[in-house]
Amino acid sequence: MVKHRLYAFLGLFFPVLFIQQWLPMREYNSPAPPKTIEERIDSVMKLMTLEEKIGQMTLFTSDWDVTGPTMRANYKEDIKKGKVGAIFNAHTAAYNRELQRVAVEETRLGIPLIFGYDVIHGYKTIFPISLGEAASWDLEAVEKAARVAAIEASAAGLHWTFAPMVDISRDPRWGRISEGAGEDVFLGNAMARARVRGFQGDDLKATNTLVACAKHYAAYGAAQAGRDYHTVDISERTLRETYLPPFKAALDEGVGTFMTSFNELFGVPASGSELLIDQILKTEWNFNGFIVTDYTSINEMVDHGVVADEKEAGELAANAGVDMDMQGAVFYNYLAQSVKEKKVSKQQIDEAVRRVLRIKFQLGLFDDPYRYSDVSRQEAALLAPEHLEAARDVARKSMVLLKNDRQTLPLSKELKSIAVIGPLATSQADLLGSWHAAGFAEDCVSLLSGLKDAVSSNTSVMYAKGCDVIGGDQSGFAPALTIASQADVIIAAVGEGWDMSGEAASRSNIDLPGHQKALIKALSGLGKPLVLVLMNGRPLALPEVHQQADAMLETWYAGTMGGPAIADVLFGDYNPSGRLPVTFPRNVGQVPIHYNMKNTGRPMDPNDKYTSKYLDVENTPLYPFGYGLSYTQFEYSDPTVNKSTFGPTETVSVEVNVKNTGQYEGKETVQLYIRDLVGSVTRPVKELKGFQQIVLTPGQSRSVRFDLTVEDLKFYNRDMEWTYEPGEFDIFIGPHSAVTNAVRVKLLKK
Ligand code: BGC
Repeated sequence: MVKHRLYAFLGLFFPVLFIQQWLPMREYNSPAPPKTIEERIDSVMKLMTLEEKIGQMTLFTSDWDVTGPTMRANYKEDIKKGKVGAIFNAHTAAYNRELQRVAVEETRLGIPLIFGYDVIHGYKTIFPISLGEAASWDLEAVEKAARVAAIEASAAGLHWTFAPMVDISRDPRWGRISEGAGEDVFLGNAMARARVRGFQGDDLKATNTLVACAKHYAAYGAAQAGRDYHTVDISERTLRETYLPPFKAALDEGVGTFMTSFNELFGVPASGSELLIDQILKTEWNFNGFIVTDYTSINEMVDHGVVADEKEAGELAANAGVDMDMQGAVFYNYLAQSVKEKKVSKQQIDEAVRRVLRIKFQLGLFDDPYRYSDVSRQEAALLAPEHLEAARDVARKSMVLLKNDRQTLPLSKELKSIAVIGPLATSQADLLGSWHAAGFAEDCVSLLSGLKDAVSSNTSVMYAKGCDVIGGDQSGFAPALTIASQADVIIAAVGEGWDMSGEAASRSNIDLPGHQKALIKALSGLGKPLVLVLMNGRPLALPEVHQQADAMLETWYAGTMGGPAIADVLFGDYNPSGRLPVTFPRNVGQVPIHYNMKNTGRPMDPNDKYTSKYLDVENTPLYPFGYGLSYTQFEYSDPTVNKSTFGPTETVSVEVNVKNTGQYEGKETVQLYIRDLVGSVTRPVKELKGFQQIVLTPGQSRSVRFDLTVEDLKFYNRDMEWTYEPGEFDIFIGPHSAVTNAVRVKLLKK
């Protein structure tokens, strides 16, 4: 403001100054029709110096919260100088309002900042980790979780979330498998879309929405041996068939930004990949938002060994089509020089700046830069009762019942005594999982508290830790065994600590860490009903534990309302309905293992040594993709079709009858898989192509119909064309990916 007034005053004496500075500023700040966003962008860009343009291509972290190597302390000075256009890790309404004030009132052009943050599964009210949310297979629930996150975060001064993470991953050693939607393309696409819808709503301008960011582009989930940041070496077929589709789905849903990944692909780091950014994203897919790098990933291209120094790294990135440099200060330090040397064209810079400004205009920041920083809205939104209720609901929907022998669960609330054992039973911090934004451990309700609140006054709930998650010793076993031996039922909360998955948290061994396995073995020796509550951010390999426990509930990291949500499931107030979004192997040696593998030329035959198998473990997983039990049982009829041959313009309807044959009302996720029997290239043994959730009361049955067209049968043929091929297909419908009930159909040439 001060500056504007100064220009106005000076303008009295120096009309040129007035015209250059004041009028145009009003022009781009005025939303008055009929000016389009593109025209408004033009009016800003014609005022900008090269340095100011590069500022818009620069994103720095605040000193609040650091999620990687810190490189700058003086970001506030940079804001003042117009050398930075975006800030991340700064949040809360008042704090961001002040930073915005500096940008708007103290810089030459007053271009507002965009504030980003990793709002992945909640801002203050924390929902289950993304892999857990995906286990709900409930698109409405997942959209709702993102919606609530956006309502809270936008009230706290944020505009932009670095989510959804849409990386497919088939390697449970990779800690970041916890941040995505699992192993499958179809489910991954649906989750990507639901999350983008939830974050962005219908209107980016609305003050309760955030612009989303599809990350990490691309194929980050294919890191070799599951080691984070490691090399990716996959075929273009696998890239296009498996890793790219969720990005495209996010784009089709209108996602505003993309983030490049740390890994290399085809020998080129993603942040310098012209193929990924310029050719596929910008040209082939026509993306018109902006592309930010991951944290210092431009600088890291020096270590990758494709450029000699950071300046060259910046040139590679800018020329590949990167629009914004996250935290690396490479554009900030070197890009102007590169432009002077004509290593990067002015058009390239303009193109990037236009994309960044477009999003700022779409967010309405030029109309009112403070519209997202509203202290009273923030107070009302954070941890609002309806948000906590939504978090509890999504949490229980995300839980997967892995085992339930002799109907151990649900438990009665009238039991005389329950022994609660395990290092995770009282933990609040672990419920948050990784990337918990502004979520605080003290706001989380632990499992022990949730259980105590749920039981009747006749039930005594005893607790002993037993051992730590990692390290420690077995000195806590004796007190744990003592209370366990006095109880009617034992609930053991075991798994991984929250920081054992997420970024830079790969594991080479994916069983229960520390002394937890020994603890479970000792508890199982008591002969009491033993219920395991698992908290973990990846598939674990639990073959022994699976034998020893009577019931197992996978709860992931369930968020702020984790304790009550788990209690809801254990006591039957909610009948578990989650299904695995990722395969649980028997041991780490089976990895990568996923349901949609290829048949091979020597499919496994137990009677033939020379077939594709192991000497020491079966080929099958411990729990397949799509698997999860309910307290009730569902019976499936064989699928039927309305026609067994069909042409490329026809629809084939596949139908199945599902009956609830158990004692409880329950939700079933009916899954449809196809197998293309003969293709010009080999096809997976199964591919998910549809799912529907239905609720049935005991004894009730319902027919479920899926309509398939050639769109569902397309793949990249031998010439890498996305097309269908006539021939026979098996269509399976059932409760998980190991379903065998199928009906055969034939797609005719015409
Ligand atoms: C992560 C991203 C994250 C970024 C900003 C990086 O280290 O890979 O997923 O969005 O930091 O916090």
